Amino acid sequence: MNYKLKNKNCIVTGASQGLGKAMAVLLAQEGCNLILVSRRPKPLKIVEKRINAKIKKKIAFALPYDVTKKDAPKKIIDFCKKKFGTPDILINSAGGSRPTTWDATEAQWEEGMMLNFTALRKLTTEIIPLMQKKKWGRVINITGSVEPREVNIANAAKSAVHAWAKGLSRVVAKDGITVNSISPGRLKTEQILKRRHPNVNERKKFIKENIPVGYFGEPEDLGHLAVFLASPIARYITGELIHVDGGMKRFAH
Ligand SMILES: NC(=O)c1ccc[n+]([C@@H]2O[C@H](COP(=O)([O-])OP(=O)(O)OC[C@H]3O[C@@H](n4cnc5c(N)ncnc54)[C@H](OP(=O)(O)O)[C@@H]3O)[C@@H](O)[C@H]2O)c1
Repeated sequence: MNYKLKNKNCIVTGASQGLGKAMAVLLAQEGCNLILVSRRPKPLKIVEKRINAKIKKKIAFALPYDVTKKDAPKKIIDFCKKKFGTPDILINSAGGSRPTTWDATEAQWEEGMMLNFTALRKLTTEIIPLMQKKKWGRVINITGSVEPREVNIANAAKSAVHAWAKGLSRVVAKDGITVNSISPGRLKTEQILKRRHPNVNERKKFIKENIPVGYFGEPEDLGHLAVFLASPIARYITGELIHVDGGMKRFAH
């Protein structure tokens, strides 16, 4: 399939590992120019190097930066403009689970909401006018479960992303911009294998009880959907929340 993504300028946050990295690699294979953002320079540089070696062209550039910093949107956009021009595609993947007690501190709430909602909302808000000028754009948010098992700050933040993205999608649709969210279930990344389910026996039990297909997914299981949603082919899909979870979601709404 020709996704018609050649030379599209794409920003991927959380690109040093996991889902962000998988999406960046797949988008590079489709000919996108890539700005890779996450905090730690070393793993990010490795992803940059690997992509450029694979494509045999310098199409990926690493920008080690914290997306929660006040000036992050400006830094990221200026870097993209300098390397390629204004962004066509924004993939918001930086984030992480924040399970906590019911009485978490204000500082914990602020950190979790900032990382998983406010930072991506601010970055998107700065980028939308640039997409409006081109009359084309794609925003894809990697969110997560909103069926809480406990108090998890990320659940509340991801719910906020879903509601905000739905509203935004309706307002910018006339400008050729789509806004969609993808909710992963359990895909094999560091946060799932090392932090959420480090114990192999617990992992097996969790899979048996919760995941109808019977296994944790690969990051690419989500990456292929992101490539499709990023492409011009997906122009009629917007405001959606799509689950990539092997059937884990149990509620019909
Ligand atoms: N994997 C799953 O099944 C699953 C399930 C539910 C939700 N999710 C969501 O999917 C997204 C990607 O998760 P993942 O599994 O790929 O997690 P991961 O392996 O932990 O990767 C997270 C990425 O985000 C970056 N990051 C974290 N904080 C950042 C910050 N303040 N500024 C810039 N970059 C930051 C990390 O790099 P640095 O540490 O170098 O900054 C890393 O590249 C997250 O939003 C997560 O909540 C994933």
